[in-house]
Amino acid sequence: MEIVVSGIRPTGNLHLGNYFGAVKGFLQMQNEYNCFFFIADWHSLTTHPHPDNIRNSVKTILAEYLACGVDPEKATIYLQSDVREIPELYLYLNMNAGIGELMRTTSFKDKARQQLHIDRVNTTEGDVEKEIFNENNKHSVSAGLLTYPTLMAADIIIHKAVKVPVGKDQEQNMEMARRFARRFNSTYGVECFPEPASFYYSSKAIKVPGLDGSGKMGKSEGNAIYLIDDEKTIKKKVMKAVTDAGPTQPNSVKPEPIANLFTMMEIVSTKDTFDFFNEKYNNCEIRYGDLKKQLAEDINKFCAPIRERILDIRSDEDYLAKVARIGAEKASESAAKTLREVREIIGFRG
Ligand code: TYM
Repeated sequence: MEIVVSGIRPTGNLHLGNYFGAVKGFLQMQNEYNCFFFIADWHSLTTHPHPDNIRNSVKTILAEYLACGVDPEKATIYLQSDVREIPELYLYLNMNAGIGELMRTTSFKDKARQQLHIDRVNTTEGDVEKEIFNENNKHSVSAGLLTYPTLMAADIIIHKAVKVPVGKDQEQNMEMARRFARRFNSTYGVECFPEPASFYYSSKAIKVPGLDGSGKMGKSEGNAIYLIDDEKTIKKKVMKAVTDAGPTQPNSVKPEPIANLFTMMEIVSTKDTFDFFNEKYNNCEIRYGDLKKQLAEDINKFCAPIRERILDIRSDEDYLAKVARIGAEKASESAAKTLREVREIIGFRG
């Protein structure tokens, strides 16, 4: 059976972006592949969370995975930090990763800007590099942030995965993972690691938009609708979505905030509902209030059963601990096997 790996950082609750970008793919793949789904708690250290926050968030994401239907009987579900072979492989990959290629990744530049407290709008990419080396800037960028893509590559190739269900925002990290796998093989003249491909359950990569005008839905974007949100919260968030005065010409191109509302509708509503509002838009008869009400209703319809299960599972600490323990054993066994091979290839005792 082909091997699949994917993970989510424990930075709070799962939102619709996580669900439709990643978890929905997990649910399909667990029936057909040998799946490893984990909680990327080492990756979350780039933002220096308090230990209590890590403990809580990890349990929350675990409960939310299970509530969504990720099944421990079918997939291996584990915490990244329980698999100690991963950082050893990360070390080997870092020995062959270039500082330049890591510094050029867009997510590094974005996050470095935040860590250095430099303005997003009025700075160029060159300014980020200059500031990194500026001894007078009292903030610094951590080496962990720079090597985020090598840790992600290690997560994936430690199980020799060939497919990785992720959202569109992970494309560049996936490109790096393939590059590091290839580089290991060519450095040592072996075919140890397959090149992992991104997996999308639909024909193209998914980007769940935010409803605040532009860009994607994300926790750090402050525009997330969470699976745990109740009906009132969902309604409030959706009714706040940015709109405009409406189209004045039939069949107008939708501006981004409006296109985002429709994208969201395409994701959570039925095709009939989508077509109905799309036609209204094209006839210049759209009433955004109605569209938003329908969208809020459909989001709630989708989230409600998951929300109930989250509340049940989250309170069963023994069950969560058991799932994590069994997952840790299975994931560690698979990782240890790869690492023995890697150590021998490099010239260490296997
Ligand atoms: P993270 O925690 O930011 O997001 C987890 C998953 O959710 C997807 N996602 C989205 N998809 C579509 N639209 C959105 N608005 C949206 N927001 C989030 C992400 O694409 C991702 O699939 N680096 C990873 C975690 C990671 C990982 C790995 C993933 C660490 N090691 C190995 C796969 C394999 C991350 O930060 O995801």
